[in-house]
Amino acid sequence: MKRYRIAEIPGDGIGAEVLAPATAAVDRVARHHGFAVEYDEFDWSCERYAHTGAMMPEDGLDRIRHHDAILLGAVGWPGVPDHVSLWGLLIPIRREFHQYVNLRPITVLEGVPSPVTAARPGEVDFVVVRENNEGEYSADGGRYDRGTADERAVQESVFTRTGVERVLSYAFDLAERRGGRLTSATKSNGIVHTMPFWDELVAERAASHSGVAWDQEHIDALAAKVVLDPARFDVIVGSNLFGDILSDLAAAVAGGIGIAPSANLNPEREYPSMFEPVHGSAPDIAGKGLANPLGALWSASMMLDHLGEAEAGGQLLAAAREVLAEGTVRTGDLGGSASTDEFAAEVLRRLP
Ligand code: NAD
Ligand code: IPM
Ligand code: MN
Repeated sequence: MKRYRIAEIPGDGIGAEVLAPATAAVDRVARHHGFAVEYDEFDWSCERYAHTGAMMPEDGLDRIRHHDAILLGAVGWPGVPDHVSLWGLLIPIRREFHQYVNLRPITVLEGVPSPVTAARPGEVDFVVVRENNEGEYSADGGRYDRGTADERAVQESVFTRTGVERVLSYAFDLAERRGGRLTSATKSNGIVHTMPFWDELVAERAASHSGVAWDQEHIDALAAKVVLDPARFDVIVGSNLFGDILSDLAAAVAGGIGIAPSANLNPEREYPSMFEPVHGSAPDIAGKGLANPLGALWSASMMLDHLGEAEAGGQLLAAAREVLAEGTVRTGDLGGSASTDEFAAEVLRRLP
């Protein structure tokens, strides 16, 4: 029997609450499709930080380097500054394992109410491809000069040819496979100095993908268009920060950030890829059984696709979609009254 070893990192807040249903659903489809998924659970979190002074052990990355994939809940909790928790766990995983593509699909699902009238099921189905290793999130040169007359904070955005080309290559290939269009998120109107370089590389890449119709939009105008006319998009490629903001915005257009999945991919498969919902630890609802587990379930389905078990992954997502389409069981964020576990139980009931 085929066996996959998954590093499971529930993390903080609702992280554990949404991963439990995700792993239960994965186990169920795995059994049905005749493969096994084994989890090694790691307690890396803000709670661990409070006890030990570190989010993960010093050799943490080596402990998960050889797993087939990483499944993560959420990282961050009040009391531990976000720059400590995130640079201590989430960001090193994305970088050390060259997960330079952050894939964030946006689909308006039947039965999920959207706050946007133009967002209709069957019409809105696009993917945000976010650069995930550099750009505005660069580690270089960040500093905060405190307490001087010239007090200021400075951060460098570093865009490398290699870093931009590889994510664009992924995005154009994806657009080609989807038979569609690509939109590049930019801000090249002379204000942000890195963006003309980004645009140049987009144009270069486009030249070798004549089958892809492409355009570029300034990020501010693009944000408005994603709200006003979400059906026009197919693949949107953006830098780290633009992609981050756009993916929460687009998730809200599709009904809420609790439903949105993501895959942090190392396309070369030299390192494990990581699957996690787009949302965070949600301290305001943690521990109350209110979290929507759909983003985590969908991320787990993407993990199965990545492992080569697309049929099982498809089955998992289809079960969740069926529950939503029926419209009687949904969590509070989608206007329902079901708990995390009640929604998860309905999904499990539809699995073999
Ligand atoms: P958040 O995503 O945790 O929460 C934003 C809002 O969305 C909250 O009102 C929350 O209740 C709601 N929400 C989020 N997920 C939900 C779900 N599954 N079901 C229903 N409602 C949901 O964002 P935040 O408040 O900006 O961040 C909280 C903490 O999480 C911070 O420490 C932040 O750094 C961290 N964070 C981590 C990740 C990650 O691990 N990838 C992502 C985003 C934020
Ligand atoms: C996300 C999150 C992270 C990001 C934060 C928590 C560092 O918002 O996964 O989208 O900005 O990448
Ligand atoms: Mn984000």
